[in-house]
Amino acid sequence: GIELGKLLANTGYTTYDPGFVNTASTKSAITYIDGDAGILRYRGYPIEQLAQRSTFIEVSYLLIYGELPTPSQLEDFTDRIRRHTLLHEDLKHFFDGFPRNAHPMPVLSSVTNALSAYYEDSLDLHDQAQVELSTVRLLAKLPTIAAYAYKKSVGQPFLYPDNSLGLVENFLRMTFGLPAEPYEVDPELAAALDMLLILHADHEQNCSTSTVRLVGSSEANLFTSVSGGINALWGPLHGGANQAVLEMLERIRADGGDAEKFMRRVKNREDGVRLMGFGHRVYKNYDPRAAIVKKTADAVLSRLGGDDQLLEIAKTVEERALTDDYFTERKLYPNVDFYTGVIYRAMGFPTRMFTVLFAMGRLPGWIAHWRELHQEPVRIGRPRQVYTGYSEREYLDLASR
Ligand code: ACO
Repeated sequence: GIELGKLLANTGYTTYDPGFVNTASTKSAITYIDGDAGILRYRGYPIEQLAQRSTFIEVSYLLIYGELPTPSQLEDFTDRIRRHTLLHEDLKHFFDGFPRNAHPMPVLSSVTNALSAYYEDSLDLHDQAQVELSTVRLLAKLPTIAAYAYKKSVGQPFLYPDNSLGLVENFLRMTFGLPAEPYEVDPELAAALDMLLILHADHEQNCSTSTVRLVGSSEANLFTSVSGGINALWGPLHGGANQAVLEMLERIRADGGDAEKFMRRVKNREDGVRLMGFGHRVYKNYDPRAAIVKKTADAVLSRLGGDDQLLEIAKTVEERALTDDYFTERKLYPNVDFYTGVIYRAMGFPTRMFTVLFAMGRLPGWIAHWRELHQEPVRIGRPRQVYTGYSEREYLDLASR
């Protein structure tokens, strides 16, 4: 790539690229996407192989450190994460401040940001030991925060992490367990969730990751930068789409299950309605993650007894879209969010937790990008603009306006 920015600096010319459709903001060695061919690789490994053969903790290590861990590296990494799953007791008071029906995403981002106030000994990005500590703290504590955000919303007591369990098992127990009742983690459910987290773990310069990098470029600490990413993820055009998809499928069902009628509304652009879970800035082919999720949906629903009707509606919508000129001409295919909601629902998660699960999955990617950014002396992210406002105007005193 040409460094157009440097070439044009001080020439009076500015590149104008709304939405950064064709602007690379960085070089990166983490994730490769070929949107036309529908290829996704983390550090060179195809997503299909990682989803089938790896674990979320291994993939987290791979994204952050660049290589798959050896058995001893994995043991050490897992152990370090285990030792940091507890939240500072005072941090728990944050949850009391939110209304009971608060959406868990702002709760998650707020408490993540608050980690900066409680763990000041790991904020110095020029000190590698502190960077390692904040990395491990964040990986360990985010599932605890996510589970507590859920507990808060259903009015149940928080459970301390049980560090005899793995990261995903621990999260499931803190989410669905109760203090007086032993909670048996269903290994198939844990494996399915682990695989979904792998699929979400990174996706190069998407909106939330670019946010993490931009916030981080001011040398803001890791917790704060990731908190910014969580906020960006919440939007319905990004991670919030998984919640929006399920709500859309439920609306179609409530309206008699007529997918064709809903799609007519999309094509006629009635009230700006879009087919949620469809389309992608980079994929102009089937999203490889969606292909894996679709296969998993059948298996998980038959095993856990989920809502087959919603899955059937989703499949009908997809079938129609794949043979409809509106969608084929625009190269709109299902993205990762299209089928995940149906699975999360079958697992027992309320709709409002779906994007939180996405955030848990994307966390290692955000961390990897923040760390990659700081491998070299960082240049602050500072886009230019094309000014369209007034030219110079004379100030009018209040009495004259
Ligand atoms: N439903 C209907 N039409 C769509 C959709 C959709 N989901 N997505 C794009 N289009 C149409 C647009 O109207 C536009 O048509 P036009 O040129 O005739 O006006 C054309 O396809 C191109 O769309 P853009 O909005 O320019 O595509 P962009 O790359 O900017 O947006 C995005 C990508 C945000 C993902 C978009 O496809 C969308 O809104 N999808 C629905 C939300 C969603 O599923 N988001 C999750 C994305 S994946 C992720 O973050 C995990």
